[in-house]
Amino acid sequence: MSTPSFSLVNNANGEKLDLPAVGGTLGPVGLDVGKVYDKLDVFTYDPGFSSTCSTKSAITYIDGDQGVLLYRGYPVAQLAEHCSFIEVAYLILNGELPNAAQLQAFDQSIRKHTMINESLKGFFGGFRYDAHPMAMLTGVVGSLSAFYHDTTNNKDPRHREIFAHRMIAKIPTIAAAAYKRYFGQPFMYPQNHLDYCSNLLHMMFAVPAEPYHVDPIAAKALDVLFILHADHEQNASTSTVRMAGSTGTNPYAAIASGIAALWGPAHGGANEAVLKMLEEIGDVKHVPAFMQKVKDKVDGVRLMGFGHRVYKNFDPRATIIREQCHKVLKHLGKENDPQLELAMKLEEIALSDDYFKARKLYPNVDFYSGIIYKALGIPVNMFTPMFAIARTVGWVAHWIEMVSDPTMRIARPRQVYTGAGERSVTALDKR
Ligand code: ACO
Repeated sequence: MSTPSFSLVNNANGEKLDLPAVGGTLGPVGLDVGKVYDKLDVFTYDPGFSSTCSTKSAITYIDGDQGVLLYRGYPVAQLAEHCSFIEVAYLILNGELPNAAQLQAFDQSIRKHTMINESLKGFFGGFRYDAHPMAMLTGVVGSLSAFYHDTTNNKDPRHREIFAHRMIAKIPTIAAAAYKRYFGQPFMYPQNHLDYCSNLLHMMFAVPAEPYHVDPIAAKALDVLFILHADHEQNASTSTVRMAGSTGTNPYAAIASGIAALWGPAHGGANEAVLKMLEEIGDVKHVPAFMQKVKDKVDGVRLMGFGHRVYKNFDPRATIIREQCHKVLKHLGKENDPQLELAMKLEEIALSDDYFKARKLYPNVDFYSGIIYKALGIPVNMFTPMFAIARTVGWVAHWIEMVSDPTMRIARPRQVYTGAGERSVTALDKR
């Protein structure tokens, strides 16, 4: 197949600029518009970046029309079926699936780094008793650079590796500590004989006063959910990590900025918003009225957990998670959970309704993840922190990919200015 060729023409004077095609292994080519301003004295304009590639990346591939999601070339469904979250984390970070020895070494290293500095625990006490766990996560992760001066040379691959292992190992401990702070319970230290997700469940739900046994089905469901959430190429939070990281800031600060971006209801906050929406609807009999409100766009009401910027066919993660959702509810004897019934009714109506069909709005991963989290006894305000734990792998991998690239430049978009033209200041007594 021949390489496509494009150019931009200034119709007023016939001036032409060839736009070199930047090809990858899969998906459309990108047009290099880097010289447009220099040569034609115009900017390109793409709010929301619907058509703009901000980088080349070898980590994740999405085909939104076909519902394809690949991590380092592997379909996410295969990874969810055959691998653990830690195996997938290794893959995303290193580009290849580990062999047994590599997996053991990586797993051991992650386990070794699970504890947090004792003085960090004091940070949680500084938050108001009802602080949202995402606020604590953002603040505490941002503070980590203050504890690890030994590995802040972004150009040193070993420093980057130690940062990666620390970040992935400590984020569950920090999230669990935020949970414990919220509920006024004592923090539980990590138990490094437990696997990643079992350890998280232990840190969240164990109390010093009595034994706690991790439910393997709950741990497995979390593990699958974390695989599905581990990366999603240049989404808003990952782009935020890259943007912050492009300034050369320390990586903990870059990850903290990603956590802040993830919090929003249009992104990682959607799983929390789904549950709030289900609570608000309350009963299956209120569904038609709610759907009408959504379609009439009353007060900007949207069907949370539906629609995606990239998937305009179906979200492949939603298909896998839907199955997990039913498995977990059955295992926990919560099959007849009224909220699940409500969710299924919304799904059924939306999938057959012309409004949603015409706009290609399908359930996304967050539609089901919130229901699973709820069934596992995880409170609603911890849903987005759970997402953050999984996505930390992707953020770290993207940060490493970016800072390892010798051609990295600070990210600095341009704008179309719409403010006042140049004018002179009138003295205060004359205004
Ligand atoms: N409910 C009702 N209508 C919707 C929804 C929705 N969830 N999503 C989009 N639409 C409508 C819009 O009103 C618009 O209608 P119009 O053409 O009549 O104006 C049309 O569909 C296109 O919507 P956009 O906002 O242009 O779509 P965009 O790609 O920018 O938004 C987004 C994607 C933010 C995910 C959106 O679908 C949404 O708000 N969904 C609900 C929140 C959510 O579930 N977010 C999670 C995303 S997945 C993740 O982060 C893991």
